[in-house]
Amino acid sequence: MTKADLSKSPAAVSAMFDEVASAYDRTNDLLSFYQSRLWRRVLRSEVAPKAPMRILDIAAGTGTSSMALLAEGVEVVAADFSKGMLAEGKKRYPQLEFVFADAMKLPFEDASFDVVTMSFGLRNVADHKVALKEFYRVLKPTGRLVICEFSHVSGVLGRLYRWYLRNVLPVVAKLVSSNPQAYSYLSESIEAWPKQQELRDDISAAGFDSASYRNLTFGIVAIHRGLKG
Ligand SMILES: C[S@@+](CC[C@H](N)C(=O)[O-])C[C@H]1O[C@@H](n2cnc3c(N)ncnc32)[C@H](O)[C@@H]1O
Repeated sequence: MTKADLSKSPAAVSAMFDEVASAYDRTNDLLSFYQSRLWRRVLRSEVAPKAPMRILDIAAGTGTSSMALLAEGVEVVAADFSKGMLAEGKKRYPQLEFVFADAMKLPFEDASFDVVTMSFGLRNVADHKVALKEFYRVLKPTGRLVICEFSHVSGVLGRLYRWYLRNVLPVVAKLVSSNPQAYSYLSESIEAWPKQQELRDDISAAGFDSASYRNLTFGIVAIHRGLKG
């Protein structure tokens, strides 16, 4: 079984997701106590898909995040670099367009999307600052970036949440996941991930205007946005 580490080698990350592909969505729902569905609804309202938008959902995995964005007259490109996740997605959602793509070197032309969005993917990218610059490049002028990612909870609740990440999540993952080690990587990578304000500053440094964020579920997840001015 493959477990990525915090060096986030692309080969190890994609292999790890190849191995969890078939049970990925079910495990996600269970480990998040079904909050993942609420987070996806909020993401949709932030992206606000409407015709004739062209949306890139990078790190789309099995396509569940992309399905949440479908709307009449909207084109959603579901891109990922795990062949296992893409294969599972194609089986599950034949109505979606799946593309093999690395977030750090996107196979798309400059200025080709109205919105670039990424759900639970940026934390796994070897150099997220390189990916943010790629997102800026492929966005049209006035295009928007919307990132949904695990983040940080402060205070007493934060201590409780970190206890859950270290002690409960790995045990539950052992019971429900096809690759429990992938979920110890999940805990480690969440704890090592930049705080809300730091990621907002990274988005600004990649060239975006009006970078901002909002917390969901006390900051367990944060939605970051940026505008290509
Ligand atoms: C936790 S899953 C999220 C999938 C989906 N967005 C969702 O919300 O269910 C993370 C995905 O990020 C993908 N990923 C990680 N690094 C990537 C990269 N550099 N380029 C493209 N995809 C990447 C993995 O292959 C995996 O499918």
